[in-house]
Amino acid sequence: MLCNVAGLGGERDYLSYPLDSLRYMVRLNLESVMALTLTLLPLLEKNTPSYILNVASMAGFAPIPIKNLYAATKSAVVSFSYSLRYQLKDKNISVSCLCPGPVFTKPSIEKYTKEKLGNLGMKMAVPVKKVGEVAVKKTLRGKMIIVPGGLAKTLSGVVRFFPRRWVAWFYYRFTK
Ligand SMILES: NC(=O)c1ccc[n+]([C@@H]2O[C@H](COP(=O)([O-])OP(=O)(O)OC[C@H]3O[C@@H](n4cnc5c(N)ncnc54)[C@H](OP(=O)(O)O)[C@@H]3O)[C@@H](O)[C@H]2O)c1
Repeated sequence: MLCNVAGLGGERDYLSYPLDSLRYMVRLNLESVMALTLTLLPLLEKNTPSYILNVASMAGFAPIPIKNLYAATKSAVVSFSYSLRYQLKDKNISVSCLCPGPVFTKPSIEKYTKEKLGNLGMKMAVPVKKVGEVAVKKTLRGKMIIVPGGLAKTLSGVVRFFPRRWVAWFYYRFTK
């Protein structure tokens, strides 16, 4: 199983990003996923059935003003995972994409969630260990999109249903 997990979010406004930090995020969140997958594909093919788990985010379903750089990289990971899944189906390699809501892997994420998303964000959060367990279990079952937690799963369904411009407006209006 290949797990492409490495990534960073950043709470900074895209408009204030220095170019080198912007490139770093794109390279880490997106290029590494694509490059590692291609590089390790021969090994996965030799060891079928095998699995690729790409870690995106719920932000990958929504254009989020301010965090738009992060959301764009994660949206690309979702898109890449969907298409790769079909390319590798006949090779017996399953591709899944983990799209969690808030996970408090460090205190700054909890603080940011409380400030920006309030109670709803705090209720959406899923413990780190649980996210790992759900991700591995569902990847082995061959599930494509994995959103741990009942509330996060429901909200991600809602977000994916609405037109993207509505979702962008909502984030702009309520999380500024
Ligand atoms: N936490 C959340 O709320 C949340 C929500 C949705 C999605 N995600 C996604 O989940 C993934 C993990 O997030 P996390 O919260 O667990 O972050 P984290 O605690 O900061 O961990 C990030 C991981 O990426 C590795 N990493 C960072 N930069 C790297 C680099 N240049 N080269 C190699 N490895 C690098 C780190 O390695 P070291 O330990 O060696 O530094 C660390 O293992 C990310 O892709 C993130 O976007 C997180």
